[in-house]
Amino acid sequence: MTQPRIALATSSALPELEADDRPLVPALAERGITAEPVVWDDPAVDWSSYDLVLIRSTWDYTQHPEDFLAWTRKVEEVSRLVNPASAVAWNVDKQYQRALESAGLPIIPTIWLDPERNFDSRAIHTRFPAFGDFVIKPTISTGSRDTGRYNAGETPSRALAITHAKNLLTAGRHVMVQRYLRQVDTVGESALVFIDGRFSHAVRKAPQLEGPFRAGDAEGDTVKHEVMTAREASAEEIAVAERVVAALPQLVDGVDGALLYARVDLVPDDAGRPVVLELALAEPSLFFSLADGSLDRFADALAARVSPPA
Ligand SMILES: Nc1ncnc2c1ncn2[C@@H]1O[C@H](COP(=O)(O)OP(=O)(O)O)[C@@H](O)[C@H]1O
Ligand SMILES: [Mg+2]
Repeated sequence: MTQPRIALATSSALPELEADDRPLVPALAERGITAEPVVWDDPAVDWSSYDLVLIRSTWDYTQHPEDFLAWTRKVEEVSRLVNPASAVAWNVDKQYQRALESAGLPIIPTIWLDPERNFDSRAIHTRFPAFGDFVIKPTISTGSRDTGRYNAGETPSRALAITHAKNLLTAGRHVMVQRYLRQVDTVGESALVFIDGRFSHAVRKAPQLEGPFRAGDAEGDTVKHEVMTAREASAEEIAVAERVVAALPQLVDGVDGALLYARVDLVPDDAGRPVVLELALAEPSLFFSLADGSLDRFADALAARVSPPA
């Protein structure tokens, strides 16, 4: 019998995967599976030659999300895409957070600016919070690209925020305005990783935003610069994240069982209660190197999807 083959989809800037994913290759080899990194937008690849295509570090898709979504559908015609194209399509645009909110799950209160509304500067300005720090970010982004932090009380900062929001809207992008949750700077952000629908491990992400977004920041940069450390998730965090993961089959058409992976990023609100900053189903870093046993759990779950139990 020939060995199952898995493509680990990555971007041209990371042809050998991000360091955290590289140990997947030997871990899968131990399980009788051939796995190799493959650049998602390389036209020469025959996706039908793989039993399964696992999306990993394809982070440059935010530059051309429609091409990426077309690619996910194409792969699904000839192979098995993990996570499935339906989950990816639902998740690449942070507007999915509206569905979480409607399902009663806690998100950061958000003002959504739609490019079709042609907001002028004044209309944008009136949608900013009256005091404190706030965040402007596009709904399609990864690695904090095009994301800025501003202060509502300082006129120059508000002016920069208006310019930032206007530039995104003019480019046809949907924009989110959120209060900056201060505990991100002290307690930090927790990323809770789920494998096959079960909580596996958690890590802490250091704060990412220091000030206004400047054009050119991280331009063309698909390599993330994030400081992560191991952390224990609290019972409250696990409970919130479990509710989010459990809701997915109801929220996402085409998802009817547990996904191979999901990452729920939580931050404390001003009362200290965990709220969802981001839910990552498409191409999340999973931080195997920070949690003993997590790589084996993941490799086992993946192997079970390509090799029927003996
Ligand atoms: N409302 C917010 N309050 C505090 N920090 C935020 C907020 N929104 C974003 N951030 C910071 O910006 C980073 C990137 O935002 P996020 O929504 O996770 O988008 P992505 O990781 O997809 O670029 C977060 O890791 C966090 O440090
Ligand atoms: Mg994030």
